[in-house]
Amino acid sequence: MIQNHTTVAPQRNGLIDLFARSISYLRVSLTDRCNLRCLYCVTEEEASGCLTKLGHDELLSYEELLRVVRVAVAMGITKVRLTGGEPLMRRNVMQFIRALTRIEGLSDVRITTNGVLLERYGRELYEAGVTKVNISLDSFKPERVAAITGVDCFAQVWRGVETALALGFSPVKLNMVAMRHINDDEIADFARLSRLLPLQVRFIEFMPMGESSRWSADAYISTDEIMARIAVLGDLIPMTKGWHDGPARVYRLGTDSVGSLGFISPLSHHFCHRCNRLRLTSAGRLRFCLLHDNEIDLRPVLRDGSGDEALRQVLLDAIRNKPERHHLDERLHRSGGGCHGRMSRIGG
Ligand code: 5AD
Ligand code: SF4
Repeated sequence: MIQNHTTVAPQRNGLIDLFARSISYLRVSLTDRCNLRCLYCVTEEEASGCLTKLGHDELLSYEELLRVVRVAVAMGITKVRLTGGEPLMRRNVMQFIRALTRIEGLSDVRITTNGVLLERYGRELYEAGVTKVNISLDSFKPERVAAITGVDCFAQVWRGVETALALGFSPVKLNMVAMRHINDDEIADFARLSRLLPLQVRFIEFMPMGESSRWSADAYISTDEIMARIAVLGDLIPMTKGWHDGPARVYRLGTDSVGSLGFISPLSHHFCHRCNRLRLTSAGRLRFCLLHDNEIDLRPVLRDGSGDEALRQVLLDAIRNKPERHHLDERLHRSGGGCHGRMSRIGG
């Protein structure tokens, strides 16, 4: 049985967009490099070796990133998530993260990782104050993980998950992109894991991300279908939802689960009306919406000697330009409506 859900209203700060949304969350992509080649993120040509990478100068330096975050925090941003590519692939990343978590007023720094390097960096992350992690994992079958990511990495990723749990990261969220005929036979196994382990298993609808994705309407599975498949295992009990839970609708599977389930439905139930985020791509561009290609390049204002006030104005411009919603759902019914952004530069 699936019960109904209630939502807690968002907290207000100074950064309100044209649609009365309070913007408090910045996602920062540190690099477009990645040690994996997930099929929903790269094209087949890229998977076979010819990935174009940003040059060193195209990335924002750590000093530039810290400056952007400092200004954004002074304006009302309270939460930052580090993404990639794979954020832990960037050189000297821990040095940067330690400086980032010391920024006054920044109470919440999280990371999204493919987990491959988590066993290695988990303790340092935790000690630096990054104690909340999202880990991408789409299958429990090693050969299937290898087919999806292009690398035989299941054992290493799973050790990363165990490391995060053992160190006390909370929450630990597992991101599973549900894809028909690829991993949908494991939906129930993923859901059952939340009964045993204190983590949140999140089912993400497969999104058509421009040229980079091998999306098809056939491979797409809606949240409604995913939930129906899980509901036969037990009651899906909604959990009270805070603004910082982001776009996921969160449930517990039965009353005795130690973990929870999250459902993210960018296509079937878009959550644009409560979107509280801005994105900084690895190419140094502010992006107003994951699924809209409009961006503002921050590099000129960071590199032409302008002061923080000019940077502040660009951030305000970005917020003013944030679109009301994306139109990805239209892809389900006709061609067009997708976006061209590359997940490995935007960071999800
Ligand atoms: N559709 C849905 N989710 C995706 N991710 C990457 N590409 C896609 C896509 N096309 C997810 C990954 C990762 C998160 C950052 O985004 O699973 O966990
Ligand atoms: Fe790397 Fe994440 Fe893209 Fe997979 S989805 S190739 S882990 S950036």
